[in-house]
Amino acid sequence: MAASVSRRDFARLFAVGGSAALFADPVWAREYGQQGAASSSAPTGSGEAFWKSVRDQFVMPPDLGVLNAANLCPASRPVLEALKRESDFVDHDPSGQNRSRLTAEKEKLRTTLAAFLRVTPEEIVITRNTSEANNMVSSGLDLKAGDEVVVFHDNHPSNLTAWNEKAKRFGFKVVEIPQVNPHPGMEYYIDAYKKAITANTKIITFTHLTSTVGDLFPAKELCALARERGVMSLVDGAQSFGLFDVNLSDISPDFYSGSSHKWACGARESGVLYINARAQKNIWPSIYSAYPGAVGISKTFESFGQRDEANMIAFREALDFQTKVGRDKIEKRSRQLANQLIAGLSKLPDVKVWTSPNPSLNAAVVSFLPGSLNSQKLGQALYEKDKIGTAGRGGADRGGLRASPHFFNTPEEIDRLVSAVGRYLESGV
Ligand SMILES: Cc1ncc(COP(=O)(O)O)c(C=O)c1O
Repeated sequence: MAASVSRRDFARLFAVGGSAALFADPVWAREYGQQGAASSSAPTGSGEAFWKSVRDQFVMPPDLGVLNAANLCPASRPVLEALKRESDFVDHDPSGQNRSRLTAEKEKLRTTLAAFLRVTPEEIVITRNTSEANNMVSSGLDLKAGDEVVVFHDNHPSNLTAWNEKAKRFGFKVVEIPQVNPHPGMEYYIDAYKKAITANTKIITFTHLTSTVGDLFPAKELCALARERGVMSLVDGAQSFGLFDVNLSDISPDFYSGSSHKWACGARESGVLYINARAQKNIWPSIYSAYPGAVGISKTFESFGQRDEANMIAFREALDFQTKVGRDKIEKRSRQLANQLIAGLSKLPDVKVWTSPNPSLNAAVVSFLPGSLNSQKLGQALYEKDKIGTAGRGGADRGGLRASPHFFNTPEEIDRLVSAVGRYLESGV
């Protein structure tokens, strides 16, 4: 089980004693020492003060509001410090003797990931990102002509294009579930999957939270359906890993993928692939090389050649940081900010919010069409003049802008975005 630290504990770590108090915590003191103490701020308190203390653990300028967690998150100070410290450690002395401790560090990340996701280290593969993890599933299963894969249409290319291209090569059939806007409700998609699964279906897949408009999917129910029907399930967790307090023992997919550099706020180019013990017999490794992991599936599946352990140690710091902040608090905060944004945008004339306003169907990804404004120009003006970072959503499919707030963002940044959009709607961009 992922340990969670109460707000009181967190406040104690970060409280009035400042960085000295923070680094009085034995774990933090051991890991960051004086270097960390020098660069970390002295967070305090409760309410917004608590969140300010969290924000102070990021190096983004205080007046810059980047609402782009669905794409890429900043790493926190502890992560940056670990990355630098551990990279220096290798570059100062790259001998095998000096590096020998790093194998154990990689395994510590595996153990931390397993606790974070509530599964066993024997089921964890440390990858480069979600794209790689998803492709390891679509390449590693022994699928052939006559087999069917049921895929949600509104998936990232690594979980849609990948299946369609591999279908051409291996001869299996891809059955797509169309996306409906606004979110038609969980039952709708459960029913759609029920109807799409046939005797030939081998695996179903979907995105836990879509990156396009932030539709939340009934992951637990769909994975239960898959098990009932004797088919495997792959949950693309790129948008849920590090945002939700994901419990894979409860959801029980066969495969789950995630990236450290999105909501987990870890180092760039680390990721995870969870392979349920029951599914391990069904999948082949895609890469054979040196330096496998030490336990379970990683012994055969994770021989990826030379790795960057500094990145992995930093990834572990990111997970520890989230646990210290409180994963339930992180999810609640991000969702509150997103729903504040939806409420604000919905009041603006001509703005079409693509994301469901129902908090049980959305999470922290919000997309909207800003009336007749040119979205690209609007995104640029918001960034240059209002210091708000959003992502453009080009194309005909629910186009416009996307804002994806996380726990380092503030209600003020949301208000700034809403009032700026309102202003540009009146004045043009
Ligand atoms: C749903 C989904 N899956 C997979 C990915 C790929 O993530 P990465 O670029 O970290 O591999 C993304 C990236 O935005 C995504 O949104």
